[in-house]
Amino acid sequence: MMQQTQKTREFVTLPVKVNGIYDWLYNKKDIYDFFDSPFLLNLITLGFHKKLSESVAREVKPGAQVLQMGCTFGLQIEELAYQVGENGSLTIIDNNKKQLMRCRRKYDYLFDNIRLKQADAAGLKTDKKYDNVVCYNLLHELPPLSKVQVVSNALAALKPGGKAVFVDYHNPCKWHPLRSLMRMFNRLYQPFAEKIWERGIDTYAQNVDVTDYFWTKSVYGLGMYQKVTATRRDNKY
Ligand SMILES: C[S@@+](CC[C@H](N)C(=O)[O-])C[C@H]1O[C@@H](n2cnc3c(N)ncnc32)[C@H](O)[C@@H]1O
Repeated sequence: MMQQTQKTREFVTLPVKVNGIYDWLYNKKDIYDFFDSPFLLNLITLGFHKKLSESVAREVKPGAQVLQMGCTFGLQIEELAYQVGENGSLTIIDNNKKQLMRCRRKYDYLFDNIRLKQADAAGLKTDKKYDNVVCYNLLHELPPLSKVQVVSNALAALKPGGKAVFVDYHNPCKWHPLRSLMRMFNRLYQPFAEKIWERGIDTYAQNVDVTDYFWTKSVYGLGMYQKVTATRRDNKY
């Protein structure tokens, strides 16, 4: 009789600790304070930091109840908080206490419509529904399953008629002068970023009927960045 060998299950360990990939940026005060500069961000992005921040704010109506997933650097949060105004609210969730504290220090005396909460956008469970959910430059940092959870949670948190806004990297056109540099940077430091080059953000939506949402997509900077919106239909029929 043939002897059956019991195969032991092999666990493949990732070469990097997923949670630690962005430690150098979000857990080191000198570094995150350095990057939290509109001037530097506009320099690095050739002016697109301001353009994209303004473009997100324009998607939101004054008085809206907005949920943002992840703290950001530069002027994105303040552009949005101004737009929302004193009759609206901007709730920002982040799973990193240091980033929440950085934003608290930065905005506490300027805006009383900003609320900061520690929460994981991928595991978000909320009954509260929002007019807008904003996800600015977060998806490219996340492993595939978290991308699915974050996009799905963002859509599920919308009121009927509400709009989710996703801003992120995109696949630059073939002859973009910075394409190879971006690819090299991604392969060295951003292992999950290139997936966002390959797949549309709408394809990460799960457990929701994508036809319940009206999708738009705009690209910027020769395809370097994208803004995708998903508006929840008030009534399907
Ligand atoms: C939103 S991204 C944007 C940073 C980007 N460099 C910028 O300003 O354009 C980074 C933030 O998202 C947070 N973050 C990462 N994963 C998260 C998750 N699963 N839930 C909530 N916040 C998360 C990080 O702690 C960090 O503060």
